Amino acid sequence: MKVKVVEVGARDGLQNEDTPLDIKTRWQFIQKLSNTGLQHIEVGAFVSPKWVPQMAGSDKLVKKALKAKADHKVKDSVKYSALVPNVRGMEDALKTGIKEIAIFGASSESFSKKNINCSIAESFDRFEKVMKLAKKNKIRVRGYLSTAFGCPYEGKVKRQKVYPLIQKMLELGVYEVSIGDTIGVATPKQVNAFLEGLQGKVDFKKVAMHFHDTRGTALANVYASLNYGIKTYDSSIGGLGGCPYALGASGNLATEDLIYMLEGMGIKTGVDIQSLIEIKRWIEKKLDRSLPSHVGRSGLPLKDTI
Ligand code: HMG
Ligand code: MG
Repeated sequence: MKVKVVEVGARDGLQNEDTPLDIKTRWQFIQKLSNTGLQHIEVGAFVSPKWVPQMAGSDKLVKKALKAKADHKVKDSVKYSALVPNVRGMEDALKTGIKEIAIFGASSESFSKKNINCSIAESFDRFEKVMKLAKKNKIRVRGYLSTAFGCPYEGKVKRQKVYPLIQKMLELGVYEVSIGDTIGVATPKQVNAFLEGLQGKVDFKKVAMHFHDTRGTALANVYASLNYGIKTYDSSIGGLGGCPYALGASGNLATEDLIYMLEGMGIKTGVDIQSLIEIKRWIEKKLDRSLPSHVGRSGLPLKDTI
């Protein structure tokens, strides 16, 4: 079995840092991540800099990333993408020559309003317009559906409410929906029930899981999802991350912890874990704080453990 990891550290990770990093450092970060074997790296977001100042300059990063690929400084197999919330963001994204974007919606009304300033129904109207532009310009689109297990404003979210939204997103033409436990409340029991109910409704090849590790359950939730045959997981180096509009949404599942578990289970990822640990230490220095991942802090050389 092979698993794909979508690295969201430069977007989901950095969007929540108190001090925005400059473009030079963000680009160094993306370059380093691009040479680890990771296949998909999210580089930023075409959102309002008034809402998320940390993502300002994402256009420059996309251009640098595409140039690095054109100059063969990065393997052709590495994919870069960025978030797009509306037509304005899509127009900005198109100017960069981007090949892949991600739309992002929510499973709960309050989070949708706080995060992208519109209702769920309105967000789908926006997505439709973005999808039209994407189709016209041959851009691949990934979808995110946040707060699928719990909402910071409404509490528990009923899975029966989430399923039609996943289906609706796929009907829009996204190639995959990433189901987000935005505030890290899910446990394997909930994940099992969620995926059990989703089975048969959508093709699991088009489903990815996006766990935050707020309560330490992210890896267990990946394990539960693996049992349902889910083969794509989002994670963030060092466990960086959160969402500025989801109070208490601390870091994403750490990429190096995810890779360690997968490789240790004999599941191939193609990612060099030692490089990830070095990048984690490097970004810690840039951010002047330590990050919560486990593998980076363990003392034993990895070749003796994995
Ligand atoms: P709005 O204020 O409702 O937009 O924001 P508006 O259409 O009313 O326009 C107001 C102003 O913003 C106008 O400028 C627009 O041009 C400008 P003004 O006339 O005042 O000078 N504007 C923009 N500027 C730059 N880029 C744009 C854009 N759109 C309008 N795209 C908007 C609506 C969606 C833009 C805003 O709410 C926003 O930027 N939200 C960002 C939310 C965000 O990035 N959240 C974090 C990512 S989601 C997440 O983390 C969850 C995820 O990881 C999965 C999970 O964990 O579950 C994906
Ligand atoms: Mg997230």
